[in-house]
Amino acid sequence: MDRKQCCVKLSVQPSRGLMDEKFIVLVQNVLPGSQLTVYALHQCEGGHSWEAFAHYTANAAGTVNVSEDPSLGGTYSGVEPMGLMWSLRPVPGSKPGLRMRKMNVQTPMEVTVSVYQGHLTEGFVDQVPLAGVVVERWYMAPGVRRIPITEGGLTATLFLPSGPGLFPGLLDLWGGGGRLVEYRAALLASHGIASLALDYVTPKLTKETGKMVDNKYFETAYRVLEQHPQILGSRIGMLGLSFGTSITLKMAVYSQVVKLRCAVCISGSHVQPINSSSEQMLAFNHRNVDKTRFNEENQQIWRDRLLPIPTDPSLKVDMKEMMQRAGNEHLLTVLSYPNAGHLIEPPFTPFARASNFKIIIPPVQIVMVVWGGETVAHSRAQDDAWRKTLVFLRENLYGGSNPAATLSSHL
Ligand SMILES: *[C@@H]1O[C@H](CO)[C@@H](O)[C@H](O)[C@H]1NC(C)=O
Repeated sequence: MDRKQCCVKLSVQPSRGLMDEKFIVLVQNVLPGSQLTVYALHQCEGGHSWEAFAHYTANAAGTVNVSEDPSLGGTYSGVEPMGLMWSLRPVPGSKPGLRMRKMNVQTPMEVTVSVYQGHLTEGFVDQVPLAGVVVERWYMAPGVRRIPITEGGLTATLFLPSGPGLFPGLLDLWGGGGRLVEYRAALLASHGIASLALDYVTPKLTKETGKMVDNKYFETAYRVLEQHPQILGSRIGMLGLSFGTSITLKMAVYSQVVKLRCAVCISGSHVQPINSSSEQMLAFNHRNVDKTRFNEENQQIWRDRLLPIPTDPSLKVDMKEMMQRAGNEHLLTVLSYPNAGHLIEPPFTPFARASNFKIIIPPVQIVMVVWGGETVAHSRAQDDAWRKTLVFLRENLYGGSNPAATLSSHL
């Protein structure tokens, strides 16, 4: 073994941080000009292994700084400070259709970053790395409190920021896949916004009625925020992704109870009839089920189910035009991300072009859905959208007297 190798130093700073925080990976004391592979390995809660790696050449001082130096190949290339996170992908031979989703936000996501000699592309487990460190990435900042909510029949979790408050509040809705998914609300609370993660899809399956929840369910969730002693009842917003955007717009427009200061809609559709029940809204999506296309891997492409355009141009609804007609254009901010996929998540979330999805309208089944997008463009979109969303929420929930604003990103 080369004498120098014993002194290889690998550091990741900070080694413990929030999911949306950048880190700096530094390799020192290697031979000047030597070839190295920096490798990241993560085992998710489902027991699957994810990896990312990149090839570097040490500089004349025997150093690689991942934040400044270009990757010459691997799961990403070029200067990408956080490429080791966003280009994580299931190791070869994994079950298809995996998507990274943290279920227990009270533990961190752990990633082992290692450095190997040479430019490797496989067989990492059979090699001995020159050095390695474990990095912790958290959705919950120190002091954030996690409070399960079951009152009023809710399936929800409230995340309160650290400190006494008062905090602005936010209802956080994921899409039609359901389940109580907490990590985005936890991260928003880490940024000072009391956030309620709400499952509004799965309760249908567990209750006797078999019906989907109605407006009252969302109004109950809103009241939990409004009446909380540490939350500013007059400063509540709503954030939705995918089907969650339809619910968000519906509550903003039709509820007599829910008074939103702002709304964030990610990858939404404006064609669903939001003045109908959740059930009818989902059924609308299924009305065009015969328009589902399949790619060569038998993965479903849903585009023409929600947007049967141009077969019926009358269905084309433009949010901007609608706001213009209502004289409210100034309240709308639209972000557009060409080549990003549907699932715009917090920064550095590994990109899943397609993943397994449980369809909850009978016949219940698990299918593989293509969400689209390209890794680099998608990762840039996640970073940009998240930072702009935080600014938008701060502006509208903390400051100003703006009556009601809407941030709509990427259809
Ligand atoms: C590594 O790169 C980052 C980003 O340019 C810089 O802030 C940091 O000081 C660099 N570290 C070293 C030791 O060069």
